[in-house]
Amino acid sequence: MNKIVELIRSASYTIVFTGAGMSTESGLPDFRSKDRGLWTKFNPDELANVHALQDNFEEFTSFYQYRLREIDKYQPHEGHQILGNWEKRGLIKGIITQNVDGFHHDAGNQNVMELHGTFRRFFCNQCLRDQDREEYLNGKSHCKYCDGPVRPGIVLFGEMLPEDVFLQAEIETSKSDLFIVLGSSLTVTPANMFPLIATERGAKLIIVNREPTPMDMYADFIVRDKSIKEFLIMIEKELS
Ligand code: APR
Repeated sequence: MNKIVELIRSASYTIVFTGAGMSTESGLPDFRSKDRGLWTKFNPDELANVHALQDNFEEFTSFYQYRLREIDKYQPHEGHQILGNWEKRGLIKGIITQNVDGFHHDAGNQNVMELHGTFRRFFCNQCLRDQDREEYLNGKSHCKYCDGPVRPGIVLFGEMLPEDVFLQAEIETSKSDLFIVLGSSLTVTPANMFPLIATERGAKLIIVNREPTPMDMYADFIVRDKSIKEFLIMIEKELS
């Protein structure tokens, strides 16, 4: 751990990359953990796929209303707050996240690149106009302007990632000399390419994840024996 603390202290441009494992200690399930991942209970091909908007809109809507109610029950944990503080102190320069819960914003981070969109926005898939999140929660699933299908502002399987966010994440990654992955299986492209891009540009790579990932072979340090919250609290203790 001392070497990791030294790396964070001496790096000049640290970028953090988070996945669903960042929010499990807030109470939110991740997607692929063996026992409790969301995709062990629901089929992403039926529910998190762009075709679901046409093929089974009812199920799609009830799944995302359920997801929204779940996310609204929880808030950022101490690990999120530490990352917010690290950005304020200049220890990290930004967060590239696959998460759509908005917890990094709530914890005070400014430079947050949400590769897979956000649950903070709902819009009509036909006229693209914004819709009211509360109305969606209360069952309004069609557009108040054109009666088209309303959907969350997240990237569904089969959709492109937001170009501007992806480009910004590429720029930030290529500027980094330290790249820290927190809680991702690194199995979903193209998000999982960022750790690789970072190492190709000469950055050091730290992966904090309970289970092995396909990018472990490129990592300078792998932390498996601590949860993300424990890891961040430990490092914060050493840094302050
Ligand atoms: N501490 C450390 N690791 C953890 C913790 C924790 N507290 N909780 C979970 N993990 C690890 C799990 O072992 C798992 O390997 O975090 C990883 C989470 O991986 P996934 O569930 O696959 O989540 P993620 O990598 O973010 O998925 C990427 O897939 O379904 C899409 O759009 C969705 O953004 C998501 C993308």
